[in-house]
Amino acid sequence: MLEEVSRGGNQIEQADDPLTLFDDWFESAKRSELNDPNAMSLATATPDGKPSVRIVLMKRRDERGFSFFTNGESRKGEELRHNSHVALCFHWKSRQRQIRVEGTISELAPEEVDAYFRRRHRMSQIGAWASQQSRPLSSREELIARTREYEKKFPEDVPRPPYWTGFVVKPEVMEFWQECEYRLHDRFTFTANPDGTWTRQRLNP
Ligand SMILES: Cc1cc2nc3c(=O)[nH]c(=O)nc-3n(C[C@H](O)[C@H](O)[C@H](O)COP(=O)(O)O)c2cc1C
Repeated sequence: MLEEVSRGGNQIEQADDPLTLFDDWFESAKRSELNDPNAMSLATATPDGKPSVRIVLMKRRDERGFSFFTNGESRKGEELRHNSHVALCFHWKSRQRQIRVEGTISELAPEEVDAYFRRRHRMSQIGAWASQQSRPLSSREELIARTREYEKKFPEDVPRPPYWTGFVVKPEVMEFWQECEYRLHDRFTFTANPDGTWTRQRLNP
């Protein structure tokens, strides 16, 4: 029976708050994904609308939105500086689910970035100094040599590089997609209202 093939539609249909629903689906993905359930595609664009996309790891989901950390001088960092509109996409193969997020980005406070940086593995901290993310590199040897240099330079605590930072995406539109049989998938968007509530709309798959 076609009525019986929905695998999440009722749950979405009854949800008022997409962030609670996100948390629910994320918890479920953590139990079933092989690795990196927090991996999300992050799309940015130049001011004249040329898009680019890459995967980053969501490190926090709180009332402000979805946070990640990166090199602020990378390609994405440059694009974010000039255009604060972004899109995210989570895909959990094991649950046949996708969540899309559209919103605006802001930089996290330096204290918060420091706190996260301090928790990283020492070699990841060194790597943040050694890698000029997104810029040309002549050879792997050059990267290794720079890593050794910074290991010597910072024999104990590694300070946070000034360009290493974090961003939070404030969601304005969220879309939930659940695969169903015969491609009759369930698909719902939630659009944020100025008063903090959300408007839910079912879409054709
Ligand atoms: C599973 C996965 C997780 C990643 N997580 C991050 C991340 O949290 N931060 C980051 O800067 N790059 C991360 N990367 C690397 C990015 O995809 C990308 O190569 C890098 O950030 C440079 O992107 P850009 O040149 O567009 O700025 C990750 C890649 C993969 C495949």
